[in-house]
Amino acid sequence: MKKKLTCFDFQTMKEEGRKVVLMTAYDYITAKLAEETGMDMLLVGDSLGMAVYGYPGTVPVTMDQCIVHAEAVRRGAPETFVIGDMPFGSYHAGVEDACRNAIRFYKEAGVDCLKLEGGKRVVPIIKAIVDDGMLLMGHVGLTPQSSGALGGFRAQGRTAEAAKAVVEDAVAVYEAGAFSVLVEGVPPEVTAAIRRSVPVPVYGIGAGDCDGQIMVCSDILGLFQAFTPKFVKRYGNLAEEYRKVFAAYSDDVRKGVFPGEEHLYRMDEGEAKKLLKGKNNRPAKK
Ligand code: KIV
Repeated sequence: MKKKLTCFDFQTMKEEGRKVVLMTAYDYITAKLAEETGMDMLLVGDSLGMAVYGYPGTVPVTMDQCIVHAEAVRRGAPETFVIGDMPFGSYHAGVEDACRNAIRFYKEAGVDCLKLEGGKRVVPIIKAIVDDGMLLMGHVGLTPQSSGALGGFRAQGRTAEAAKAVVEDAVAVYEAGAFSVLVEGVPPEVTAAIRRSVPVPVYGIGAGDCDGQIMVCSDILGLFQAFTPKFVKRYGNLAEEYRKVFAAYSDDVRKGVFPGEEHLYRMDEGEAKKLLKGKNNRPAKK
């Protein structure tokens, strides 16, 4: 039986140069299959806004939606380290509100850790959550919840000055108590500078070499069709497989080929005869 990894294991893996594999998951089946294949961490990301609900971004995602999906992932992957992603609005109205929402993730969905976006500006929030005894992963660089302010889903830290700001954010997040830092959409030089500046694991998406990589599951499966970021590697084309299955099923139903004999629940012959004996099967009038 798989043993659930802890933040200490992730620190050891970093020190021993062993890469950590992270992926998003939003449902029971995906989580179960991910656990069976030995995924190290699952993130119930607010990317579910796009991947599950068809929103144009992550901003509309609510705490209630995240909790429902995190519960399902927890049930599918009981022995995997699960991260609950704090959605937009769940940690913006002050420290108390942020802690209340963080606690909901722990109590209602049984997550092992939380993640939230931002650097220096979220230091008081991180400190409060960590002081309340919860584990937290920071998220710096391209932070999708602020994509409006960033001018879209654009790579960050591409000038020396901008790079310095991302590194400072990562350091601030670490100093506030984050046990790891996720860095998204920055040049590898920026990631390398972050890794030199913080002693905790640095995980990346579109950020080059790190202590581990994270990908959105619907991207690597080739399911999400709206757009494909440059940093995504597709390992399958499940959208095509879905289309083939849906078309074959529709075809069978329309031709009367499905259901076949093997899909039927048969009655005993005697029971079937009794049924046929009656003139009709309507209940007798009183
Ligand atoms: O919500 C998400 O999927 C994320 C990843 C982009 C890391 O935060």
